[in-house]
Amino acid sequence: CGIVGYIGDKKAFPILIGGLKRLEYRGYDSAGVALLNGSLENYKKKGKVSDLEDFIAGRADEGSVGIGHTRWATHGEPSDKNAHPHVSMNGDFSIVHNGIIENYAQLKRDLETHGYTFESDTDTEVLANLIEYFYLQDDEITSEAAVQLALSKVVGAYGIAVLCKKETGKIVVARKGSPLVVGLGSGEYFIASDASPIAEYTNQVIYLNDEDIAILQKDGFTLSNVRNNPVSLKISNIDMEIGAMDKGAYDYFMLKEIHEQPKTIEETFRGRLQNDYSEIVLGGLLNVFPKIEAAKRIVIIGCGTSWHAGLIAEYLFEEYAQVSVEVEYASEFRYRKPVLSSDDVVILISQSGETADTLAALELAKSKGATVLGICNVVGSTLSRETEAGVYTHAGVEIGVASTKAFTAQVTVLTMIALKLAKRKGTISNETYKVLVKELAEIPEKGRAILDDGEKIKAIAEKYHEAVNALYLGRGYLFPVALEGALKLKEISYIHAEGYAAGEMKHGPIALVDNNLPVVVVAPQDDYYEKVVSNIQEVKARKGNVIAIVTEGDKGLKEMVNDVIEIPKSHPAVAPLLAVIPLQLLAYHIALLKGCNVDQPRNLAKSVTVE
Ligand code: G6P
Repeated sequence: CGIVGYIGDKKAFPILIGGLKRLEYRGYDSAGVALLNGSLENYKKKGKVSDLEDFIAGRADEGSVGIGHTRWATHGEPSDKNAHPHVSMNGDFSIVHNGIIENYAQLKRDLETHGYTFESDTDTEVLANLIEYFYLQDDEITSEAAVQLALSKVVGAYGIAVLCKKETGKIVVARKGSPLVVGLGSGEYFIASDASPIAEYTNQVIYLNDEDIAILQKDGFTLSNVRNNPVSLKISNIDMEIGAMDKGAYDYFMLKEIHEQPKTIEETFRGRLQNDYSEIVLGGLLNVFPKIEAAKRIVIIGCGTSWHAGLIAEYLFEEYAQVSVEVEYASEFRYRKPVLSSDDVVILISQSGETADTLAALELAKSKGATVLGICNVVGSTLSRETEAGVYTHAGVEIGVASTKAFTAQVTVLTMIALKLAKRKGTISNETYKVLVKELAEIPEKGRAILDDGEKIKAIAEKYHEAVNALYLGRGYLFPVALEGALKLKEISYIHAEGYAAGEMKHGPIALVDNNLPVVVVAPQDDYYEKVVSNIQEVKARKGNVIAIVTEGDKGLKEMVNDVIEIPKSHPAVAPLLAVIPLQLLAYHIALLKGCNVDQPRNLAKSVTVE
């Protein structure tokens, strides 16, 4: 979920709406704003921020103090009533919240015994009422003291912004677990879950620490701790490039981002592949390379598509840098009892740098003394601030919820790290190193060739868009690509798709094969080719429909399968960067034919900022 807030002399409403649009990557199933303008106006609506905007058009949207929220449902279905802000029962407080109040059921029961009733199914309404309850107990109490009392009863994570009807020149904000940033303007303050909504107004921000509580008034702010512990006030300068949010000539951001990949991959290695592409320089890791070289093990952590990038890195690091690698889902890692020490290097991968599980995994790894590194796209994000060192992917703003260009940028960075590490460790020959760096440098050109031929994929999508299930197969470096292809289809077309290691197919998924099942096989000519061809035979023998991603000019497979998509020849270690492109396009065209919202698929968020 995303939170924004404004207090100052300007009209708050357009600032809040603009901010919410920047934060929509955190969820978009409902949105709302509350404005203090003599009274406390509260507007909320199921749907996107633009639906909220339409809903409010023509209503009282004046006021220079306000808060807003865009939601990804945790407690309670997406609906008008479950949308934020939540107003307390007697109408004194309006609050927006990111996070989960774990003991909300108990708190709710307690409030019910005091006569409170509830309109929504959310944990947030419980907090709104708890604040109001304390406020109404005591004539002298301030709203911030009531917030503080309420938070002392809460178990869980929160980032909150609170308006009080009777204290019209004030916003109270607090955080624990869920990031909140305060922007410092002159005679005005901004609040947001990340700095992107703030960057166009001011470059001075304060990142709230856990249990910080801040009171913002037009002419000043105070910062304290929920438990009255000392606080440290640090003003940071943000240097954030606000990426353009327009689709250009494309119908969807996702299509634009798929097509941007040759350029974004170039951006990713700009300045990093040097001397005619014969040397890799990764400034961000310079000081930590000795630790990476000494590492007994590298643990790579991410979620979703970022996790798939990590799986590709496992093959790269093991083959070339000869170091043992484990790839972990952040959501599992954070709750296991992982055996980690200062001998381990942990690499966290996240496009947004705001995914809650990944951030929690980061803290856990840090607490165990491991060296923590980040690979991240969003400059200034929490991940980039909390890691010891790292590499930015420089893919530019990614708006499509289904990640495309951020993925290829992550894989590019990981390939560079693996090769550089191998070179430093002496586990790769100079010759292989040069071949691979050159192969990497040639990817953008080859990617362009695939995209130029992309229209053919539309015809294949037409044949299969009514499928109910799909299977994606690959081996070696292309097994994670099969997983990613299946995820893309699932995310945006709602067709159930499974990615599998081709050799594992016989242990289960083969039972699904019949003449209705499209089976996408990533089968370029590499060391696994013959094995993959055998897997294709196994599918064909059971009347499955095979769509094969093949190396340009492969005649043998063309005759064997139903459809082929050609990709240029490349070294197997960089092949994922090419093979994934047709899979992105296939998912895109199928979703389009099914009439799905490609950029904002149902139920998803671009980055899940609650666990
Ligand atoms: C969400 C998105 C995925 C994304 C994942 C991780 O689930 O829908 O597309 O891969 O989060 O996001 P991150 O920003 O951490 O890479």
